[in-house]
Amino acid sequence: MEVLIVPEHKIGELVADDVSGLIAERPDAVLGLATGSSPLRIYDALARRVSEGVLSLQQTKGFTLDEYVGLAEGHPCRYSTVIQSELVRRVDMPSHSVRGPDGGASNLHDECRNFENAIADAGGVDLQILGIGSDGHIAFNEPGSSLASRTRVKTLTEQTRRDNARFFGGDIDAVPRHCLTQGLGTISEARHIVLVATGHEKSEAVAQLVEGAVSARWPATVLQHHPRVTVYVDEAAASRLILADYYRYTHAHRRLVG
Ligand code: GLP
Repeated sequence: MEVLIVPEHKIGELVADDVSGLIAERPDAVLGLATGSSPLRIYDALARRVSEGVLSLQQTKGFTLDEYVGLAEGHPCRYSTVIQSELVRRVDMPSHSVRGPDGGASNLHDECRNFENAIADAGGVDLQILGIGSDGHIAFNEPGSSLASRTRVKTLTEQTRRDNARFFGGDIDAVPRHCLTQGLGTISEARHIVLVATGHEKSEAVAQLVEGAVSARWPATVLQHHPRVTVYVDEAAASRLILADYYRYTHAHRRLVG
């Protein structure tokens, strides 16, 4: 796991560099797209590059991580709506090239299976962008999630519903209790995972992710088993990392060896 402690305002451009590097090699790359506030600066940076003509996402495909169950089509908090307005409509991706699990499907279990098949048919995710919840969830894999889980229906914790109430006008009762989410096993199959986290409220989750024991109690710790994870954090989110100085030292002395 590579841990980069960088100023918050630089994270968007740094991850956009990772995406641009991938697309230079593979214009039809498959992107794993996160929602929530953490990736917004990344999407701003990608939109700017596309409008400047230095990047094209036209041939890419995207898969989102998760979705609330029961929000009407077009609801502003539905992640399928959010990803269209935050990214797809601002770049040159055709709108149908991004698919997420459909939380309005009549048979949610079939939908989870179909969604997994769609990712597999696309050849798997090349680069997965991730945020992290304050309780250590990735996508909506709440504490207790199997480290081998696949896309399925989950029940949100009260903490996640409280954290996400800000998107629902501050009304926790408006936040659904259930969701569909890629599993930890699904996410772990992405070839490169880039996780971004900022702010003190993420510092414990980040400390567990990077230095804690691998455990379903802190679902993001499953990423310690992944061969290629890059973690971008600001000073606040990094504030509980015991080996922070070592990560800074590694970064400062980074060079190609061999
Ligand atoms: C939500 C999403 C996650 C996201 C997390 C953190 O619950 N399902 O994918 O990473 O919250 O969100 P934020 O980036 O807004 O802090």
